[in-house]
Amino acid sequence: MTFIQSHYDYEGLSDFAAYVVSNQIKYKPTSLIGFATGSTPVGLYKRLVKRYDEGDISFDQLTTVNLDEYIGLPDGHEQSYSAFMQHHLFDHVNIRPESIHFPSADSEPSNFDLMIQQKGGIDLQILGLGTNGHIGFNEPGSSFDSLTRVVDLASSTIQDNARFFDHIDDVPTQAVTMGIKTIMNARKILLLASGASKADAVFSCLSGPETEDVPGSCLQSHPELTVLLDDEANKYYVDSMI
Ligand code: GLP
Repeated sequence: MTFIQSHYDYEGLSDFAAYVVSNQIKYKPTSLIGFATGSTPVGLYKRLVKRYDEGDISFDQLTTVNLDEYIGLPDGHEQSYSAFMQHHLFDHVNIRPESIHFPSADSEPSNFDLMIQQKGGIDLQILGLGTNGHIGFNEPGSSFDSLTRVVDLASSTIQDNARFFDHIDDVPTQAVTMGIKTIMNARKILLLASGASKADAVFSCLSGPETEDVPGSCLQSHPELTVLLDDEANKYYVDSMI
């Protein structure tokens, strides 16, 4: 079943996302949670840190995997997704460093899928959405059967992500990303989208045909999908249940 909820604004969306993720951690403290980067989940991570500070949740038994990582940035580069996760979440909670996992191009990328399988599969995968409908770094044209692998970034993605770098030429052109199949194998998925720039992608992912041209449209087939939008991202009024 898919549950779609529209919030007045980004703060409301982030509050509810924190409620969903906290419940998962409380319900199963040993969960394997898939985290996402990008600006959208920042409000969620801020709230998870607050809940941790207040003693509401603990990360000590949790295992995490991240969706994707750029290729070609020096270790510790502030725009690397591992640095992003440290800065916004991991540095502030009691997660064990050995429980944090990122896909990597240094070894066979699909070993990441094996590792996820060996750990019992992802319980909850958090996702943002690219303006071109990408999830993780699965760009339009990605196979719905894809596993973790090295990909070339679409020029629209490089353009979108240039705001985080000094110059567009500094944006990596490749990344390693969980595949669509890897993502779809998660037991539950929480998709977050905020702002008018996501409205078209939200509409085509949730109301258009399921096609590899729109990677996020695969989510329509997921058995347990929660979508949290703000009013701007849901300006075409996607139905609350599909
Ligand atoms: C990047 C990430 C995605 C993310 C997307 C949207 O390209 N690879 O996982 O969902 O950006 O980012 P934002 O939330 O900043 O719009």
